[in-house]
Amino acid sequence: MNPDAKGKAEMKIGIIGSGNIGATAARLFARAGHEVALSNSRRGAGLETLVAELGGRARATGIEEAARFGEVVLVAVPFGRYESLPVEAFGGKIVIDAGNYYPQRDGNFPQLDGGETTSSELVAAHLKGARLVKGFNTIWSEHLRQQGDTSLPLEERRAIFIAGDDEEAKRAVARLVEEIGFAAVDTGPLGEGGRRQQVGTPVYNRELNAREAAQVLAAG
Ligand SMILES: NC(=O)c1ccc[n+]([C@@H]2O[C@H](COP(=O)([O-])OP(=O)(O)OC[C@H]3O[C@@H](n4cnc5c(N)ncnc54)[C@H](OP(=O)(O)O)[C@@H]3O)[C@@H](O)[C@H]2O)c1
Repeated sequence: MNPDAKGKAEMKIGIIGSGNIGATAARLFARAGHEVALSNSRRGAGLETLVAELGGRARATGIEEAARFGEVVLVAVPFGRYESLPVEAFGGKIVIDAGNYYPQRDGNFPQLDGGETTSSELVAAHLKGARLVKGFNTIWSEHLRQQGDTSLPLEERRAIFIAGDDEEAKRAVARLVEEIGFAAVDTGPLGEGGRRQQVGTPVYNRELNAREAAQVLAAG
């Protein structure tokens, strides 16, 4: 983290999966002054146009390199692929897990179908040593692209939900969320909070500002 001339902390952010959500977040992070390393399943092939658009703040690379590059690493691959993530490269990193479990896409995970655990807890168990925060999973990528507005007071901004067991990691993710014009709404620990923001919950893919989000969570 290097403070720039305005005293804002510039971060290195690794992007694992540069599709709808990863590429959109990468654009926003780069525009907010951060450096991003984008990756996909093809060692970054196909991301040349996006990297050129983002100028000197972006590069395309392999998955392991992007994870090692980031102080914060956004995982935005189809959830069912999580076991292919290279564990060691994520050690000690703040990891944002944007994934959702869709059995028709990901295949069936009996422990999720039975409600024994959550997708983010599975990812956290795989990425041992990472500081996992569930986040960006309830917002459609088009809304992520369009709805950030740093001119609004926090309670009027579109909510992005976060959950996790590491309070410092959650604060770092909340700062990033705010820098790109949204409000971070904390739903609690990774297990319990993560369940509040899964597919089909009252906050999932709903256009709620932070004030409304708090009301919906309190009612739920
Ligand atoms: N779409 C949304 O609005 C949205 C919103 C919130 C959360 N999510 C969740 O975010 C995750 C990503 O969704 P998406 O819509 O962004 O997906 P997407 O557009 O299909 O993009 C997936 C990205 O992951 C890469 N990838 C696939 N398998 C990989 C692997 N084993 N290792 C590394 N990279 C891999 C793909 O690379 P290639 O291009 O090389 O295949 C692609 O860059 C999903 O869990 C989804 O449920 C999506």
